[in-house]
Amino acid sequence: MPIATVSSRMTASIEEMRAVSGFARRILGGGSLGPGACDFLFGNPQEMPLRGFVEALIRHAEPRDPQWFGYQRNEPGAREAVARALRQARGRPYEAQDIAITAGGFGAIATAMLAVLEPGEEVLYPRPGWFFYGALVRGAGGVPVPMDLAPDTFDLDLAAIKAALGPRTRIVVVNTPHNPTGRIYPRAQLDALAELLTEASERLGKIIYLLADEPYARIVFAGQDHISPAESYPYTLIAYSYGKTLLAPGERLGWLALSPDMPERDRALLREAVDMAQVSHGWAFAGRTLQRALPELEPLCIDVAALQRRRDRMVSALRDAGYEVPVPEGTFYLIPRSPVPDDMAFAERLAADGVWVLPGSITEMPGRLRISLTASDEMVERSLPIFARTIGRNDWV
Ligand SMILES: Cc1ncc(COP(=O)(O)O)c(C=O)c1O
Repeated sequence: MPIATVSSRMTASIEEMRAVSGFARRILGGGSLGPGACDFLFGNPQEMPLRGFVEALIRHAEPRDPQWFGYQRNEPGAREAVARALRQARGRPYEAQDIAITAGGFGAIATAMLAVLEPGEEVLYPRPGWFFYGALVRGAGGVPVPMDLAPDTFDLDLAAIKAALGPRTRIVVVNTPHNPTGRIYPRAQLDALAELLTEASERLGKIIYLLADEPYARIVFAGQDHISPAESYPYTLIAYSYGKTLLAPGERLGWLALSPDMPERDRALLREAVDMAQVSHGWAFAGRTLQRALPELEPLCIDVAALQRRRDRMVSALRDAGYEVPVPEGTFYLIPRSPVPDDMAFAERLAADGVWVLPGSITEMPGRLRISLTASDEMVERSLPIFARTIGRNDWV
């Protein structure tokens, strides 16, 4: 019998990620895309960071006592700032003790999963969707169950979710606003999902949790409202990241919140489990400087109106050029249909002219392209003639 060198869980996640990581390595192997590239790839910042963010970090990096950088789990000030912001935004009595300050949204999701999953339990999550759910589920010993969204509308497929709920189900992930489609789920859909989860929890004699992954909660465009699934279902854990609102994803700051509508008895158990999950994940609390800065960072946000202007400029120019592109309700992404069936070939043609987009076939969205609007306006303007020229080519085989 062969002796395994690494864990089968990591091997499975490496295999699942191979298409994305291989693509990233192939194009970024040299370190950068090179001068003049228009980078629509991974949602990385292309402009200087928010000054308020930098100043808050500098202020709190200066030690004021010998214990300044000593061990600390959650800073009380950070927890209270998050709970206050949630109370104001959502009108529910969120409590500081129910907030865990995490290493970004990744940390919040990983912590939630480790806190409630038994080995072998299933986690349902959206497809297409964020690349890393499967890896985080496996990391917590769970079994990933991707659930296709409805074609074209990208709504939750409630009938499919209902059919998938069974004795092994423990968590259903809802990502709203949704990466990459920009869909914001309406209350009626979240209420209907809540009904399914309540019914299944009772029938199966166990709590099925809803994990609301909401890093784009504030990246919503005019006329839209983010509605948290926590408003529909009490057994909701909310994961958040400041990586999007501050557009500084390399500084790891986020939180996990327990819904105040969960019964106190269960919340008390969860508080302890969440804390131990943070420890078990390798002390996955956010660093102290970020935690101390959090109350000042909480109200900061990138210019969403400017992002919306960029969205509108690109959608209309791409449509004029002949692309079919839906208008996202939130998030950073546009997902035009690839003008030719081979989205990889199309993305490579664009890349040859310095315009870098993600081909949908590596992101479970075959036949589409993903454009990240974190590119600068200047990149957008430079890219548009290239998008127009590439769709106009007649030498596709
Ligand atoms: C849907 C979704 N969830 C979670 C995350 C993780 O956020 P962070 O990298 O800030 O931890 C991302 C980042 O792209 C995301 O798009």
